[in-house]
Amino acid sequence: MYRLCPETDADTPEVEALLDLCFAPGRTALSSYRLRDGVPPVRKLCLLLRSGQKQTDPLLAAIRYWPVRVADRPVLLLGPVAVHPTAQGEGLGGFLMRESLSRAAAMGWERVMLVGDAPYYGRFGFSKLDHVEMPPPTNPDRVLGLELHPGAWVGVRGAVTRETRPEVLAGLAEPGAPDLRSSCADVEVTKDTPHARDKHQLAPSHSAADR
Ligand SMILES: CC(C)(COP(=O)(O)OP(=O)(O)OC[C@H]1O[C@@H](n2cnc3c(N)ncnc32)[C@H](O)[C@@H]1OP(=O)(O)O)[C@@H](O)C(=O)NCCC(=O)NCCS
Repeated sequence: MYRLCPETDADTPEVEALLDLCFAPGRTALSSYRLRDGVPPVRKLCLLLRSGQKQTDPLLAAIRYWPVRVADRPVLLLGPVAVHPTAQGEGLGGFLMRESLSRAAAMGWERVMLVGDAPYYGRFGFSKLDHVEMPPPTNPDRVLGLELHPGAWVGVRGAVTRETRPEVLAGLAEPGAPDLRSSCADVEVTKDTPHARDKHQLAPSHSAADR
């Protein structure tokens, strides 16, 4: 059993330490971080897994999301996602991916993108976005997308830009830390078999890479 919670300000130093542990030094120099500068994250989708119910129980995994724009359409930028090295390969990353994407769809988000390894994210339905450009230097083969609503990436092409609309930013800057904390839950996590992966995949049957 694990404890699933939205990330609050109190968790942030631990999440940063986990990201420092899991990624190479200088991770914040990546171009994707420039899209996050000065923009609040989508708090309800930034999730953590701890080994137990107490705030002091070890943090094992975290996932974060930010709003961005492509061709003036709202897009969720997924990442970073990280699992503590001692807990990798146990299904925690897959659980956070599926849980957060399912919540994103329920919130009405239509399209998600990330910069990452296609062999890992392909299992959740992500495929290469051929006409979406991250700020350089980004390997275009690592720019991946997922439709939460059928056809949501069709015709959406161009540069990824920071979300600057005041009404969107105001909606994201929710004070709600106590509310977030009250939405924690105990969860079972089991590692997917390839068969279960196919069954749970959120993606539509067609590939975003074809656009
Ligand atoms: C990548 C990461 C988030 C996956 O989380 P996890 O909890 O270890 O993954 P799961 O247990 O859900 O899934 C494990 C599977 O993913 C595969 N996998 C993990 N990282 C992978 C990668 N970069 N490319 C391809 N496959 C990968 C494992 O080989 C394993 O495959 P299997 O199911 O066939 O045995 C985690 O390993 C991690 O934090 N790594 C370091 C940080 C990082 O690289 N993050 C971004 C990746 S682009």
